[in-house]
Amino acid sequence: MSSLTATEPRADATTAAKTIQPAWVRVLHWVNAFAMVLMIMSGWQIYNASPLFDFRFSSSITLGGWLAGALLWHFAAMWILMVNGLIYLALGFATGRFRKKLLPITPEGVIADTRAALTGKLSHEDLTKYNYVQKLLYAGVIVVGVLIVLSGLSIWKPVQLQWLTALFGGYDAARYVHFICMALIVAFIAVHVALALLVPKSLRAMIIGR
Ligand code: HEM
Repeated sequence: MSSLTATEPRADATTAAKTIQPAWVRVLHWVNAFAMVLMIMSGWQIYNASPLFDFRFSSSITLGGWLAGALLWHFAAMWILMVNGLIYLALGFATGRFRKKLLPITPEGVIADTRAALTGKLSHEDLTKYNYVQKLLYAGVIVVGVLIVLSGLSIWKPVQLQWLTALFGGYDAARYVHFICMALIVAFIAVHVALALLVPKSLRAMIIGR
């Protein structure tokens, strides 16, 4: 009995040391992934009703069936995304996670790690530490996430939030900002998913934490 209690704290410490992604990060990450997919697919259907560019998205990858249906999906998923995102930002700042995991980001570090990645020399041994390319991409996608929500709000309520719409340069410009942010997020997701599949233990860490 006494030996059990004596080893317990050490076992706890080992488990804590092995934890790569805390539970709150994992839960918020997957809720965000779910909401993002709904936002992207319904957004593409909304876009199809009045395209900004010379193409439309195939109906096989859109959500909502038609403009009004897509807007309903977009505004429903919007609440999940915004509440989840606000909790993530609050906990990211309050726990010091953003500072610890994402900072500092130095140009030298980014260049060195990009070189290492391109020559297959980037280490994936210690998953508790992000490399500089990861830091830059994760910090960047958080900023883009904030921008897409703000531009979305400005095209949703351009009268009530006209100061916000004006900050984006008007309604039409805000629509382009919203669309470009979507394209950046889709590009991020493509790289992110490909790398998670290439480094399976990082995916495992995001599912079970270790
Ligand atoms: C949570 C905050 C968001 C709000 C309030 C919002 C709101 C809106 C609104 C009102 C429209 C219709 C624009 C129009 O009528 O022309 C729209 C379009 C669109 N949204 Fe969002 N959105 C949000 C987040 C997102 C996210 C996270 C994505 C994808 C990652 C996204 C992707 C799109 C796309 C692709 C369109 C079509 C672009 C266009 O043709 O104007 N939105 N959004």
